[in-house]
Amino acid sequence: MDLYAVFGHPVGHSLSPRIHRLFAEETAQQIEYERREPPLEGFADAIQAFREEGGHGANVTVPFKEQAWSLAEQRSERAERAGAVNTLVCGDILYGDNTDGEGLINDLRNNLGVGLAGKRLLVIGAGGAARGVLGPLLVEQPASLIIANRTADKARVLAKAFDDIGSVDGCGLDALEGERFEVVINATSSGLDGDVPTLPASIVAEGATAYDMFYSAEPTPFLRWAEANGAFRTRDGLGMLVEQAAASFELWRRIRPSTEPVIEALRHDTR
Ligand code: ATR
Repeated sequence: MDLYAVFGHPVGHSLSPRIHRLFAEETAQQIEYERREPPLEGFADAIQAFREEGGHGANVTVPFKEQAWSLAEQRSERAERAGAVNTLVCGDILYGDNTDGEGLINDLRNNLGVGLAGKRLLVIGAGGAARGVLGPLLVEQPASLIIANRTADKARVLAKAFDDIGSVDGCGLDALEGERFEVVINATSSGLDGDVPTLPASIVAEGATAYDMFYSAEPTPFLRWAEANGAFRTRDGLGMLVEQAAASFELWRRIRPSTEPVIEALRHDTR
């Protein structure tokens, strides 16, 4: 059995082992998939030990994605840009990729029927979660992409780092007054603690999709806000989680699992 694992801190609630076991069953792959929770200062040692045990590949989650980026001896272009690695392939060299953006785009396009080309796109938040998906979002050629953040300067700096790929600008949340967007993505960590950033109601255009990169059994505060302010469609990040996992699985096993039954199974679990 080939060994894989997800590294995070905390990692106890990670759905990755369940997702990858379902993928393995569906594609008849013999894999073992574990959770690993190294101490905050012990990520590099834990990866080294994992490789010595014969580990084939790893998913990396908060707070280790940036450390995984540094540790990788070779990186995909999208990981390079993201400044973060969520997938490691352990070969003769340690290869790092970032499948988060692909996961988000595939969930929007394939599962929700929302293409991004020509759309007005808003990303709220300018931390690691936003940075991880900006490159792939811009490659889809939206009409425009605005990054809005509580700390406006962080959004401006982030936009600058990606403005050679497409039309992207950064601003503060208050500068959104009167603006309208067809796709609004929450990439702030506020979804986790139940706080919603203060957003003008105007940002939700008619027919708009609101997407929260975080997921929970209950609608997140951001999605409740979006629904109350006229969003046509709201969706949490469970589909993104499964889609980014499918992209990792394909990197490791050279076979693409179907995601729909897995998303359904997880929704059923959390119901
Ligand atoms: P992550 O890696 O999950 O993105 P991060 O790098 O700490 O985490 O970034 C958190 C993001 O959520 C930031 O954009 C942060 O805004 P600031 O840059 O102004 O700190 C945003 N955020 C967190 N809590 C928030 C809240 N209650 N309201 C608005 N934005 C919030």
